[in-house]
Amino acid sequence: MAEIISGTELRSAILDELRTEVAAMRAEHGIVPGLVTILVGENPASVSYVSLKVRTALELGFHEVQDNQPADISEADLLALIARYNADPAIHGILVQLPLPPHIDETKVINAIDPDKDVDGFHPVNLGRLLIGDERFPPCTPAGIREMLIRSGTPIAGAEVVVVGRSNIVGKPIAVMLGQKGTDATVTLVHTRTKDLAGHCRRADILIVAAGVPGLVRPEWIKPGATVIDVGVNRIGFNEKTGKPMLSGDVAFAEACKVAGKITPVPGGVGPMTIAMLMKNTVLSAKWHLATNR
Ligand code: GUN
Repeated sequence: MAEIISGTELRSAILDELRTEVAAMRAEHGIVPGLVTILVGENPASVSYVSLKVRTALELGFHEVQDNQPADISEADLLALIARYNADPAIHGILVQLPLPPHIDETKVINAIDPDKDVDGFHPVNLGRLLIGDERFPPCTPAGIREMLIRSGTPIAGAEVVVVGRSNIVGKPIAVMLGQKGTDATVTLVHTRTKDLAGHCRRADILIVAAGVPGLVRPEWIKPGATVIDVGVNRIGFNEKTGKPMLSGDVAFAEACKVAGKITPVPGGVGPMTIAMLMKNTVLSAKWHLATNR
């Protein structure tokens, strides 16, 4: 049976490390990392994600500004709000929760964030930095995946990595990151138009699945002993008792456990790591601002 890589446990270890760093920063320099979370409207999933981010930031001792805006805020007003936080020296990280209402251009909003405060790592400047090996803020989900591989003792250098899915926030950046000099994996990026998807997956020492298709990866697609990272968060219904959404990953988990060497569960896998990496990026940003006196 596969070893379970618990994102919940790793998150807790990472948050402990960050808590110590924040306390040291406060003691030595009299500042703490500052994070603003901007939520537009009341999309239930976004409300729940943002409240977890706020709670975690407060728990670590950050300066946290929760800025909730109505769903009908104009694009111009949202851009002006971002400009204000760009200029605010107490704020080191700016997070605009996505998706945004349809009348607002997401690309424009992401591009308006100062790349040196873009702790989500979505700004083209940060993605460019990632591509040329000058990583500043890696996007949080790929950073969480890399951290899980490292902390679970999965060998990455020379490994065959197959990434299923080519999104800008998971597939493309994780493929670049793991293939980078120093990490040294051999990466194949596959997608909906790939021929023989199963054949590619079966070659993987590390299989990373971010396709958004529940149960896509069958046990026959997994090389015995491989490490399987399931990034899928598919809502497959509601729990009748709690009313909470029930989640399922992109991997047929129970069967995959019989073949894989290590595997991440859903929930409790990659999800908790994403928030931990957001906090880590915010601490990084505060340190960078401190070191460069900006
Ligand atoms: N919506 C879903 N995931 C994310 C994320 O990681 N960051 C932001 N800003 N919005 C999201």
